[in-house]
Amino acid sequence: MPVLKIDNLFARRSIRRFTDQPVDAEQIDMLLKAAMAAPSANNSKPWHFVVVTDGAIRDALAEAHPYARMASESPVCIVPCGESGLSRGSQSEFWIQDLSAATENILLAATGLGLGAVWCGVHPSEERAAAVRRILGIPERVVPFALIPVGHPAEEKEPRTQYDGNRVHRERW
Ligand SMILES: Cc1cc2nc3c(=O)[nH]c(=O)nc-3n(C[C@H](O)[C@H](O)[C@H](O)COP(=O)(O)O)c2cc1C
Repeated sequence: MPVLKIDNLFARRSIRRFTDQPVDAEQIDMLLKAAMAAPSANNSKPWHFVVVTDGAIRDALAEAHPYARMASESPVCIVPCGESGLSRGSQSEFWIQDLSAATENILLAATGLGLGAVWCGVHPSEERAAAVRRILGIPERVVPFALIPVGHPAEEKEPRTQYDGNRVHRERW
């Protein structure tokens, strides 16, 4: 397995332009393995992932979301979904954090593989979730969490941190 270096973390940027080159099936599998390596509350793993390569379905997703037009251009769109009924313990709303961790893992893994990706938020917009659910046939108990267009980057962005010392509180606020 490729080792994720800390440089990858700073190199992760939102990539919104993609070449026509398809993404290998092995690379998609690696993104899904990375997603499911994420931490989750009580190790509940309350997630599902819909992998969309079909152009007509990607076009429909791109139309359903006001800021995810690049899903038409990217060869793959991964849709992480949460099923709060799978959450163990008293705090089923932790599914949102679990899905966030899985989503970030996909972005970091994409960077590590030389791919580009962008997190397009769906939950908590009920309008976006309803549209994505309808297009993909997702059951009512499952919430589409995000759209992640993935592909080979057609734009370059500089690695960076956005470190802000004013937001750091040492020992006490
Ligand atoms: C919860 C969430 C929702 C986002 N939704 C969108 C989106 O709908 N469309 C988009 O192009 N980018 C979206 N982004 C990406 C942000 O715009 C981006 O992360 C931010 O501008 C910082 O840029 P960077 O990712 O290159 O560091 C989203 C990011 C997060 C965490």
